[in-house]
Amino acid sequence: MLNQNPIKTKSWLKLTKHFVDIKNIKIIDLFKKDKLRYKKFFINFKNKIFLDFSKNRINLKTITLFIDLLKELNFNKFIHSMFSGEKINCTENRSVLHVALRDMDNSLLKRYMNFDCLNDIHNEVNISLKKIKHITNSIITGKWLGFSGCKISNIVNIGIGGSDLGPRMVVKSLRNYRNKLNIFFVSNIDVTDITQVLNNISPKNTLFIICSKTFNTCETILNANIAKSWILKYFHNKNALVNHFIAVSNNVKKVLEFGIFKQNIFVIPEWVGGRYSLFSVVGLSISLAIGFKNFLLLLNGAHDMDIHFVEKINDVYQNMPIILAILSVWYNNFFNFSNELILTYNEDISLLPSYLQQLCMESNGKYIDRDGFLIKKYHTSPIIWGGVGTNSQHSFFQLLHQGTRIIPCDFIAEILYNNGCNLYDSHFKLICNMFAQTQSLAFGDKYLSVKKQFCSDNYLYRYNVFKGNRPSNTLLIKKITPYTLGAIIALYEYKVLVQGFIYNIFSFDQWGVELGKKVANNIYCYFNKVNCAFNNKLIDQSTLNLIKVFNNMHKKKSDYNYGK
Ligand code: F6P
Repeated sequence: MLNQNPIKTKSWLKLTKHFVDIKNIKIIDLFKKDKLRYKKFFINFKNKIFLDFSKNRINLKTITLFIDLLKELNFNKFIHSMFSGEKINCTENRSVLHVALRDMDNSLLKRYMNFDCLNDIHNEVNISLKKIKHITNSIITGKWLGFSGCKISNIVNIGIGGSDLGPRMVVKSLRNYRNKLNIFFVSNIDVTDITQVLNNISPKNTLFIICSKTFNTCETILNANIAKSWILKYFHNKNALVNHFIAVSNNVKKVLEFGIFKQNIFVIPEWVGGRYSLFSVVGLSISLAIGFKNFLLLLNGAHDMDIHFVEKINDVYQNMPIILAILSVWYNNFFNFSNELILTYNEDISLLPSYLQQLCMESNGKYIDRDGFLIKKYHTSPIIWGGVGTNSQHSFFQLLHQGTRIIPCDFIAEILYNNGCNLYDSHFKLICNMFAQTQSLAFGDKYLSVKKQFCSDNYLYRYNVFKGNRPSNTLLIKKITPYTLGAIIALYEYKVLVQGFIYNIFSFDQWGVELGKKVANNIYCYFNKVNCAFNNKLIDQSTLNLIKVFNNMHKKKSDYNYGK
């Protein structure tokens, strides 16, 4: 893999000069200059997903220069390394092959991988898929029974980060495809999370999926133990665990130690990273929620985006993920717009922003480059956040329109109206609102001026000026289906990959989360009075004081009176 500081390339220098030419140009003028702009900056993915990126502060030259950058950095070689199974996740010495999970017909990886390697991976994927299918069907049809003979009706997925956010988001997004099973997600170490679920269900018809690649994650293991005690307290028999616990993990030894039976273990391959794992056995809760056939459609959608990505790799103007990545680098590193917003004008996909936060920020929030050097002169991942439209319009949109910062946005909506009742008008109004926002952000008050109602010497006039020139992408999804959702997820996976590649970082590790875990362990020893393990040299004065305040206060029983 070619490791190169991007800002030292000739192409970056050219982009810097181009930025000087373009930075003061208005989106409105770009449209005036090119009447066909709306067509040129538009990508249609199989008549199912449409990306309009015309409302951006770019011209065709911007894209051409980024193509040069990708060439200079040898991007095609990087993709070849990744898809052929090279260990491009160097700091963890792992291949990155989540694409294999959805390459059921081998049409993608056979272009890159040698036959033996491909065969092994294909077999591993197929065995997992068969197992997912079998368990899904036996639970949905009621063949899988609880220890006392009851059918399973509640599934509780216990996991965090990549073992939670993806499945949780997909299950919520595909509400219209759900069967009768109740699916719950427990992730937080805050005991409120698990107790709120357990208080409303019964052990006799509940199946837990303990989902953790490492089976070492404090939150997950703690919650799994609470669930185990809850089951054992009810049945008074260890054998009940076989009916009520499944593990999804890469750490079989730890799972067995925990007490989950071998036949109930679903193995996550080493080459699947946590935040890229929802298409693997980590998606078991998805398959249970929407059925195995629909789970396969989710995989198909992602696979078709994989194919789109590689087949359009030399036709970047039509490559949806590369365009999103280029835009993100353009704004983050040239305009210095440090935030990016994901705005879903659809309640079903309202968890997409939090899923994408992990995907983008855990992948690309790094300050050490691929050669081990500190990155000094450019920023890596932008800050990702988001919300649902129209609610967000009544909260933070003021800043989007008139704030001193500019925040590029991705607006995402569904075209078809799929709510099963006849309130079409609400859907049209929702979409009108979204279009209104993208228009106003880009063109300000050019087309419909609010300020006209004021005379220009009225001081309120100033407050009603909308300068616009604020960029956004619009993604229209014909219908939110397992297929299109799979494609959208893969779209953003590639966006992150391309961006991380340009930044010369390792997008597939996450060392930055380790320190907090170690410090928490040390503090925990203090609380637990495991003094021998507690090291007071590893703690600062302020934190020590906070611990003391906490410790002195939380002991008084009368303070736990909630006034009921
Ligand atoms: O702490 C971060 C992290 O390692 C994520 O990368 C991962 O998705 C999450 O924790 C959960 O990890 P695991 O699946 O091993 O429990």
